[in-house]
Parts: sequence; structure tokens; C-alpha cells
Amino acid sequence: MPIYQDYARIYDRSGQLGFSKRMLNYIDQLLGVHSTQGNRMLDLACGTGTVAIGMALKGWQVQGIDGSAAMLQQAQAKSSSAEIKWSQQDMRRFTTAEPVDLATCLYDSLNYMLTDADLVSVFRQVYAALRPNGLFIFDMNTAWVMANRWDGTCFVTDNDEFTSIMQTHYDGRHQRTLVTVTCFERQEEHYTKSKEEHIEQAYPLAQVSSDLTCVGLTIEAVYDCFTMRPAQENNERVLWVARKPAVDDAYYL
Ligand SMILES: C[S@@+](CC[C@H](N)C(=O)[O-])C[C@H]1O[C@@H](n2cnc3c(N)ncnc32)[C@H](O)[C@@H]1O
Repeated sequence: MPIYQDYARIYDRSGQLGFSKRMLNYIDQLLGVHSTQGNRMLDLACGTGTVAIGMALKGWQVQGIDGSAAMLQQAQAKSSSAEIKWSQQDMRRFTTAEPVDLATCLYDSLNYMLTDADLVSVFRQVYAALRPNGLFIFDMNTAWVMANRWDGTCFVTDNDEFTSIMQTHYDGRHQRTLVTVTCFERQEEHYTKSKEEHIEQAYPLAQVSSDLTCVGLTIEAVYDCFTMRPAQENNERVLWVARKPAVDDAYYL
């Protein structure tokens, strides 16, 4: 069952927009501490493009990549005032025409990598896409939040246009969560029902660190997301800042 298809139409209206707006402010804070040179940026798994558009409006030359045509359609429709190159690609295999100074991958998108091999593939592609000294910023949900805040929880949004229900089930053995997203979208007097099953995989901090290092990226900071405090396993969400070294030594790895 494909994901981010029917849900794409209501994604922004179901409360997700607030996260990206908060993230835009946080990125400003992060870039004040972690320097960048140049203004080319890639937003990987850009979804409906809120961060990509916000960064373009701040002067970045942005490319947005996502696996879902439906999410990109929403992004395109929103971005008439910002010049952004959108492309549909799988983040495990993406390429960019030109190297970038900053890459982001936000809002749980890397939790959609269900195996460590897939996570490493994304990191390798990001390494290849970055200019020497380029910065990579991404966040991930932790096993802690999945087990302690989500498991069995049902998140409901209900308004005149649609009802969306997100039912979560945590599999502690594999440290992954199944999120069943059921939507009833109003079409005049009727409602159209859709259902998607999203799976998010949690990774221990040490494993993510080792994967980043293994592809040649240097870890600059790991934060309790939306703060500047060092991350811990029992944070809800962790924000990583990694950098491609100024001298490209991937050849030796
Ligand atoms: C929770 S949304 C986050 C979207 C956006 N980053 C934001 O902040 O709103 C996760 C996104 O990851 C994308 N995604 C999941 N797996 C992907 C893959 N293998 N390649 C590219 N995009 C993927 C989905 O299509 C979706 O748009």
C-alpha cells in the first residue's frame, strides 16, 4: 500500500505544518552556531515543501527531493513565489546536478528507513551531494518516544473538511512503530475514506553516529531537538548536525 498518497492532500491541514514552521526557526538558530558557506541547499524528503519554501524565501537556492509524487504536487502548488527545483527520487539512491552547501532531512523522514543498510545508503548519497565542508542536518524519533509516548495512542484531527485518525502500535522487539493513518475526506455530502500504513524505525544514537562516521561525515553536534542541549536516548526527538570534511577522504574509507 503506497504511503503519502491520499494523506498528502490533508497533510498540511492535519497539524503537520506547525512542525515545519518551528523547524525553520530552529534551523536559523542552528546555522548561527554551525557555519555554512554558499547558498545551495537540498531538502531531502521535503514532503509538501514548507521548509524548502521557507529557506528559499530566506535566500537559499533550494532543491526539494521526495519519493511521493502526491507530496511534491502539494509542494509545487504552494511554491509559485519561490524558485525551487522539485524532483521525485528515492532518498536511498538520489543524485543532484550540483553539490550543495547544506542538506536537510526533517520530521522523522529518516525513520522511514527500515534497515540500517538503507540508512547508510541515504548517508552515502548525502555525502556525495555535499560540497566539502557542507552541512547535513536531520532529526529522528527515538525508541523512547515510540515506546513511552506513542504506543497505543490515537491522534485525531477532526474538522469540517476531514477527519484523520493516526493509530500507533509499537513493536519493542524491532524498535519500530506501525502508524495506521485513516482519513475521511469530505466531498460535498459524502466522505471518501483512505488508509495508509506507515512504519517508522528507531535507531540507537550510537548506531546513527557509527553510520555517519562510516560514510565519512563528521558529527558536529547531537541535540535534544528544538533545544541546544546534548541529546540523550530518552529524548523524544534527536537532531543531528554532521559535516563533510573539507578534504574529501571518502576514497580511503
Ligand atoms: C513525515 S514526512 C516529512 C516531510 C517534510 N520533511 C516535512 O518536514 O514536513 C516524511 C516524508 O518522507 C518521504 N519519504 C519516505 N521515504 C522516502 C524515500 N525512500 N525516499 C524519498 N522520500 C521518502 C515521504 O514521502 C514524506 O514526504
